[in-house]
Amino acid sequence: MRRAARAGGLPPAWGLALAWALILARAQALENGLARTPPMGWLAWERFRCNIDCEADPQNCISEKLFFDMADRLAEDGWRELGYKYVNIDDCWSAKQRDGAGQLVPDPKRFPRGIKALADYVHSRGLKLGIYGDLGTLTCGGYPGTTVDCVEQDAQTFAQWGVDMLKLDGCYSSEEEQAEGYPKMAKALNATGRPIVYSCSWPAYQGGLPPKVNYTLLAEICNLWRNYGDIEDSWDSVLSIVDWFSAHQDVLQPAAGPGHWNDPDMLIIGNFGLSYEQSRSQMALWTVMAAPLLMSTDLRTISPSAKEILQNRLMIQINQDPLGIQGRRIVKEKFHVEVFLRPLSQAASALIFFSRRTDMPFRYTTSLAKLNFPDNTVYEVQDVYSGKIISGLKTGDNFTVVINPSGVVMWYLYPMVQPWCLVRQQGPGGGVHPLIL
Ligand code: GLA
Repeated sequence: MRRAARAGGLPPAWGLALAWALILARAQALENGLARTPPMGWLAWERFRCNIDCEADPQNCISEKLFFDMADRLAEDGWRELGYKYVNIDDCWSAKQRDGAGQLVPDPKRFPRGIKALADYVHSRGLKLGIYGDLGTLTCGGYPGTTVDCVEQDAQTFAQWGVDMLKLDGCYSSEEEQAEGYPKMAKALNATGRPIVYSCSWPAYQGGLPPKVNYTLLAEICNLWRNYGDIEDSWDSVLSIVDWFSAHQDVLQPAAGPGHWNDPDMLIIGNFGLSYEQSRSQMALWTVMAAPLLMSTDLRTISPSAKEILQNRLMIQINQDPLGIQGRRIVKEKFHVEVFLRPLSQAASALIFFSRRTDMPFRYTTSLAKLNFPDNTVYEVQDVYSGKIISGLKTGDNFTVVINPSGVVMWYLYPMVQPWCLVRQQGPGGGVHPLIL
């Protein structure tokens, strides 16, 4: 009743504008059925940048060899089976000029076999290929961009090559060009008939927040989007991203869901800037943020400990939870301990106890009741990193976790069902989820 009264109260012009906006949003919708869980794979940029000096550095320069090598590692070292399927090219792959037909072409020296051959190889290994473009006159690295008039042609080119994901950056374009070009690319990708996951950097160029960013529209046209600045190989950089995402979680958290994800940028685990504890923290925090897991590290030389973090099965299961609800920071203690919670399917949840302290392992005492879990429930808890199980934890029980400096303790918990009395369980945060017995 109240709703009808309100709608009736809208001036007719507004009602019409609203209807048109909805129709337009629908018409522009990507509707590609892709990325129902956050995409997982490998992306060149953070670790390999725009190193094009293949004479001096043939192992690490942006060339087809790097991508063939990474495809081999993903296929042979257990990554693919865990879900790490995308091998993604970033900037600096193309020649400095389009060809005579105005088509983007790869640098002939560094990609002598061309992108199609690389895609064929990647597919033969059971993987998928991602590529990078930029809506503008130039890419951020100074290579040919995709101006608005080239959007359709470039979408066709990528589809013909067999590309499975496109990251569309936004250097060297105006706000107006971006507002036209990003939805246009969504339509153009759809029109190719090839399923291509669409990663938009648009919101990062609009400051990441409403009113400039329209997250409803974005979720209609993009499968994932960069909201914020580039990750660098340092703990400070990870913290600045976590801080920004947490500070704006009321806006960002509802925007994410199956088919449309916030992207806090690549995982830098395995590189030079993070300690062991910090690496475990990045993995846990990205998992609870329902972030795409795009590793940017050298999989040919990665250490066993970094690999173990990235290949943690329970962690990946949590990241890939089918409900696709992004987690939130729920506690920020004065003494630099924070708690994050992500609701999962089957009334399960993931909790992170995160210490930003720099002194010594910290004993943090709390209870599930203090974290707003439902009353009178008994939980089974699995520590995601150690695998240890705590059975029979009641909502009201106090417990203590020992968190290392800049480290995490991460829990996966689910209610222990008493078959004679429970058919439905209430998860934290008020949602009632059906429980399969
Ligand atoms: C921008 C993007 C990065 C990377 C570089 C490439 O800075 O945000 O992720 O793609 O461009 O030049």
